[in-house]
Amino acid sequence: MNAPNKSGWKPQMEVSEDGLHNGPQTSTGNRALMLEEPLLFEIGHAEVTGVDLPEIDGNAPTRLGGLERTEAIGLVGLTEPETVRHYTRLSRQNYAIDLGLFPLGSCTMKHNPRLNEKMARLPGFADIHPLAPQQTVQGALEVIHELGEWLCKLTGMPAVAMSPKAGAHGELCGILAIRAAHTARGDAREVVLCPESAHGTNPATAAFAGYKVEDIPATPKGRVDVAALKARLGPDVAGVMITNPNTCGLFEKDFREIADAVHEAGGYVYCDGANFNAIVGRVRPGDLGVDAMHINLHKTFSTPHGGGGPGSGPVVFSDALAPYAPLPFVKENDDREFYLVEEERVEEVGPSFGRMTAFHGQMGMFTRALTYMLSHGADGLKQVAEDAVLNANYVLRSLEDLLHAPFADSGPCMHEALFGDRDFGGDLSTLDLAKALIDEGYHPMTVYFPLVVHGAMLVEPTETESKASLDEFIAAFRNVAERANAGDETMKQAPYYAPRRRLDETAAARKPKLAWSEPGD
Ligand SMILES: Cc1ncc(COP(=O)(O)O)c(C=O)c1O
Repeated sequence: MNAPNKSGWKPQMEVSEDGLHNGPQTSTGNRALMLEEPLLFEIGHAEVTGVDLPEIDGNAPTRLGGLERTEAIGLVGLTEPETVRHYTRLSRQNYAIDLGLFPLGSCTMKHNPRLNEKMARLPGFADIHPLAPQQTVQGALEVIHELGEWLCKLTGMPAVAMSPKAGAHGELCGILAIRAAHTARGDAREVVLCPESAHGTNPATAAFAGYKVEDIPATPKGRVDVAALKARLGPDVAGVMITNPNTCGLFEKDFREIADAVHEAGGYVYCDGANFNAIVGRVRPGDLGVDAMHINLHKTFSTPHGGGGPGSGPVVFSDALAPYAPLPFVKENDDREFYLVEEERVEEVGPSFGRMTAFHGQMGMFTRALTYMLSHGADGLKQVAEDAVLNANYVLRSLEDLLHAPFADSGPCMHEALFGDRDFGGDLSTLDLAKALIDEGYHPMTVYFPLVVHGAMLVEPTETESKASLDEFIAAFRNVAERANAGDETMKQAPYYAPRRRLDETAAARKPKLAWSEPGD
């Protein structure tokens, strides 16, 4: 049952006029076992707490040595069971990979194996501190080192920086290394080239690092226009940032030719390796002329998106950029001891550009990713890529008769199937189809990205879905696609059955209300 409603909070569930949602309105706002949940401030009481603090030690004058608050600050409390229920109910209003297939393209929402979780919780990894003496955390340093070696082997690159905390952070790391390399040879270049199909973080990173960003067009087949790129190369171009496989779900077949041309013009090649899960074990980016590439551990190596601590976006480097890689990093000496190379040892490695972060703080991610690698082995990882590609092609070919698939003629896709809204009837849009998919019980796919396709819908099923779960998803998707093509206007009101109906997304983004206030304030 819901807690008492003391603040005028009103149930949000409505009876809609179209007859699609015509059950009685309940007094609680609950719908069967889907429970409405007010905010803590609406259900808590200042005098309630779920915590019992120990008695004050008889000899100590006060519990916190005089730092206690002297007056109440208006925080409300709940009993322990109420607290547990509050957060459990909130969690049930969200969708999760542990609830069902999560088709977000470019995000790789795949199963997080429980073995990884078990390893990450071992106290030798979970309970250590970045400033612990290095001889007391040899096992953890070895995990970082071994994971780095796997990444170098899988990518065919000689060096790796493990400290970046996300994909975009890795991009910045790579671009700073490129700038350091140019600066070291007294060559101040100002421009970074990004294909127009680039992930948004690519131009943002280059701009953040102080570069001017210039677009390179895509061909009608969805790949980088090589001729246009070559024509733009020159002494002001510091480098290119290219996502491979690209955001249209296609492999950039001309990557080697592009890399050679960029190198010849004195630039460096940054590869956005976020989509490495499509090619791991099959392609080594080092063989394609890449100088720096980040890897999103949460995408390729199954670490959770938000895993109770910082994320991880390691960056692999070519010989040309390795000397500029950030500190600290782990090395092994001849006695099989592991140690951190920090500023005072920089002569061992070269003129690093500095630090991306203070510490390697992502032990949870490192442990999970290495567990994933060791439990799959090299052949298993190759199969990960093959199955991810197979599943995406199954989705593509199962829907292309209903949905515009702009690059279906370019051959098999990689790990993502891309569709557009060209064939929708009436004034229905991709957003309407996405909202209708929520009523079918699925989180929507990525929408309106990549920008090169009108009303883009990017579906990444990942390799962890069985054929049975793909078939269920495809059936649901076909249902909403048929309705969209027929111009079914009721889709404009979807979702009908979600805890909240259609939200004002523009106001939510432009005028976020981040603090609670008494109703009427
Ligand atoms: C192609 C691509 N590049 C970069 C990123 C940025 O990675 P992160 O979200 O870890 O910063 C993503 C994220 O999904 C991506 O898909």
